[in-house]
Amino acid sequence: MDVSGKGVFLTGGARGIGRGMTEALLAKGAKVLFCDLIADLGKAAEADLQKQYGADNVVFRQCDVTDGDQLKGEKFGAVDICVNNAGIMDERVWEKMLAINTTAQIRGSQLALDHMRRDRGGRGGLIINTVSLAGVFPSYFFPVYNASKHAMIGYTTSWAKNPKMGEMGVKWRCLCPNAVNTNLLVFEENQVYDGDKFLEWIKPRMLEPEEVVEAFMKLIQEEEGDGVIYGVFKGLGGVFKKRRLVDADGESNPIVVD
Ligand SMILES: NC(=O)c1ccc[n+]([C@@H]2O[C@H](COP(=O)([O-])OP(=O)(O)OC[C@H]3O[C@@H](n4cnc5c(N)ncnc54)[C@H](O)[C@@H]3O)[C@@H](O)[C@H]2O)c1
Repeated sequence: MDVSGKGVFLTGGARGIGRGMTEALLAKGAKVLFCDLIADLGKAAEADLQKQYGADNVVFRQCDVTDGDQLKGEKFGAVDICVNNAGIMDERVWEKMLAINTTAQIRGSQLALDHMRRDRGGRGGLIINTVSLAGVFPSYFFPVYNASKHAMIGYTTSWAKNPKMGEMGVKWRCLCPNAVNTNLLVFEENQVYDGDKFLEWIKPRMLEPEEVVEAFMKLIQEEEGDGVIYGVFKGLGGVFKKRRLVDADGESNPIVVD
């Protein structure tokens, strides 16, 4: 999709990957409403971005994505692209983590679908959920985080398979980066299991947020690939691979292919 002039709603945009996504979308001419729990960071980002891209093109709202009323209250006026990106990794508060990473992403997706569906007067659109490679492969370091992300792969790809989706005019994609150098991976004690080991193990594969943002922009702008699971890997100097889970026999036994 050409993002120029498009309306975007994005969650978790105050820092990390979401902050980078917001800026990259603005640079391509989109209008972005981004929300986050952290008001001071969000407001600072808004001030910065408004200076560069114009006050009419970017707006921040403080919002807790787990509060359905707050999400609904954010008018989805003219949203063409919805990016459910807010997330945490904290096994100590696993129910809260499920509420943010899974329930809120599902709620955001449903609201966006209702708003966008062409068969009900909308103008179509694109829903991207920031998932993770942790949604594709098991990992003993953070089982509930892993489960929260596996759920979003199941949810997003299931909607993409709906035979009426063409009529609805909505596309669905999962962005699945490997580990990224953001605050999400700054662990306190017991936040994950063997956090030091994980960080040591993942170090050579760790992405920088800009690399993920670049992949995200490719994913958005690509016309093909509905229901795609878009893996982002540290490759040769940050080369991205597009990976898709396909059904080996049409319905079950998914395998990963390039
Ligand atoms: N960093 C990684 O290794 C990595 C890898 C793969 C996927 N991801 C996913 O990328 C997304 C962005 O993470 P990040 O790495 O940029 O981390 P981050 O911590 O830098 O950013 C996450 C943002 O989400 C916001 N947020 C958290 N809870 C919220 C809530 N209840 N309501 C509103 N906003 C809330 C935070 O305030 C923060 O600004 C997450 O979904 C994460 O799971 C991260």
